[in-house]
Amino acid sequence: MKKYLIFAIILCFIACNSYKDALETALPTDWKVKKLPATPQDLTGDPEAGLDYLLHGDYIGSGIPYGVFKGGEARIRKKFPYELEGKTDAPYFINIFEAYNGAKVVSGNCFTCHAAPLKGNQLQVGLGNYMSDFRANIKFANAIVKPFVYKKYDKDTKEREAYDFIGQYTEAISSRIKLQQIGTNPATRLAEACMQHRDPVDLTYREAPLYPVMDYNVASDVPPLWNVKKKNTLYYTGIGRGDFSKLLMQVVVLGIPDSTYARKVQERFVDVLAWLQTLEAPKYPYEIDEPLAAKGALLFEEHCSKCHGTYGETETYPNKLVSVNMVKTDPLYADYAMDTKLHDWYNKSWFATTEPKSTLVAEYGYVAPPLDGIWATAPYLHNASVPTLEDLLNSSQRPKYWKRKWESYDFDEEKVGWNYETKQSGVGKYTFDTSLAGYSNQGHYFGDTLEANERKAVIEYLKSL
Ligand code: HEC
Ligand code: HEC
Repeated sequence: MKKYLIFAIILCFIACNSYKDALETALPTDWKVKKLPATPQDLTGDPEAGLDYLLHGDYIGSGIPYGVFKGGEARIRKKFPYELEGKTDAPYFINIFEAYNGAKVVSGNCFTCHAAPLKGNQLQVGLGNYMSDFRANIKFANAIVKPFVYKKYDKDTKEREAYDFIGQYTEAISSRIKLQQIGTNPATRLAEACMQHRDPVDLTYREAPLYPVMDYNVASDVPPLWNVKKKNTLYYTGIGRGDFSKLLMQVVVLGIPDSTYARKVQERFVDVLAWLQTLEAPKYPYEIDEPLAAKGALLFEEHCSKCHGTYGETETYPNKLVSVNMVKTDPLYADYAMDTKLHDWYNKSWFATTEPKSTLVAEYGYVAPPLDGIWATAPYLHNASVPTLEDLLNSSQRPKYWKRKWESYDFDEEKVGWNYETKQSGVGKYTFDTSLAGYSNQGHYFGDTLEANERKAVIEYLKSL
């Protein structure tokens, strides 16, 4: 017995060290800016059918029995009173559907993370959910639901089977998505933890994890979905390459049974991709000083367009990946993209080896995103570390610890972004702490060279995008 234990410790030591070596050797880059390559996409789908599938479809594969959800629905609706057009059967972030085995179940949907209110109770579809708080361990939430399910449904019922099936993945992700930072999102970690328990070829459940996973739970902001139509690649680090319908559906690994089911979902996601082409950024709802914005437009063209593109009558978007060494924003998320073993799994999986193919390719940079609707998407940078555009364009002004109003959109028309309070330390339930690993507000110094009045003009122009 003791011998096996020592053997296991040695194996772990080797595995952990080769993991560290990979991190250290993968990082140096001598390039500054790269053009991201385009892949032809199938845009022949039906946009309306795409949105309908997102709001009512079965893409998560399994979930909590409908009977148990029904008991708690009123309470959920009261806590999340937000309205989304076309969605009445359940709260906006919950889909009711038939699981892979025929049980009637519910689970979260894409709008759990990709919709949020801008004003009042009306949701802005495609806006990243700035209200999410992943600091609690979902294990506890599950511990509350489980007794209800087990009491209501016997062991050999379909409902219990569907619940226990997704429960394996909930268990696998629980420690991987618990964050230290408020308002950031661990979606990549969620995919990484689920795929760790799936056979890459047929996507069926594997009990033993297939690759090692970093211990620190790094997270990101949630990008707005209306920019997808301009992008050649997906994600902050530009790692999402190839066919978008496959990339868009990655969250299915939470609960689908196998690749046969995944294929059916992928076919429907051609419609989802068509719907994304129709999604527009929200227009700035307050006044814009047009002469000042016109001055800002010229400055933007001179200082910013080469990375972020042009807007208005001639829209161009250059699709550039900027090396971490050049943009100098927090490197951890890009380090992680270089190092995670998720990519090896993905690139030999059903997602990458069957048509239409998609792959993950990490190059140690961050994408310079389109800035459509940028007024609405605070906080800024891939790690959500900067609360306003004015702070982004004047780095000396960025707050180290800051707190915004929670659960409502409290807009600052002057600085453009979140109204916030500067705090003295990271202590406090709603304080964003930029001293935590991965959440530094460093980098993107491109606005620092502007004079104060020039910066004001650029910000006025940004309101109009
Ligand atoms: C748990 C929260 C969560 C859920 C659920 C979720 N996403 Fe995301 N999504 C994210 C986060 C966070 C990112 C940013 C990750 C990154 O860029 O590294 C993202 C990125 C994306 C992107 C890339 C956008 C860009 O500009 O590069 C698309 C497209 C997308 N999600 C679509 C979807 C769709 C469609 C669904 C449902 C099938 C979905 N997401 C479900 C959190 C989520
Ligand atoms: C060399 C290329 C480059 C130049 C020049 C540049 N940017 Fe950026 N910008 C980037 C990159 C890369 C990011 C993403 C960085 C990150 O998220 O870590 C970014 C992010 C941003 C964001 C935040 C986007 C978001 O959704 O959080 C804004 C706003 C922005 N830039 C505005 C500007 C303005 C205004 C200028 C001109 C004064 C400018 N940028 C100049 C590359 C550039």
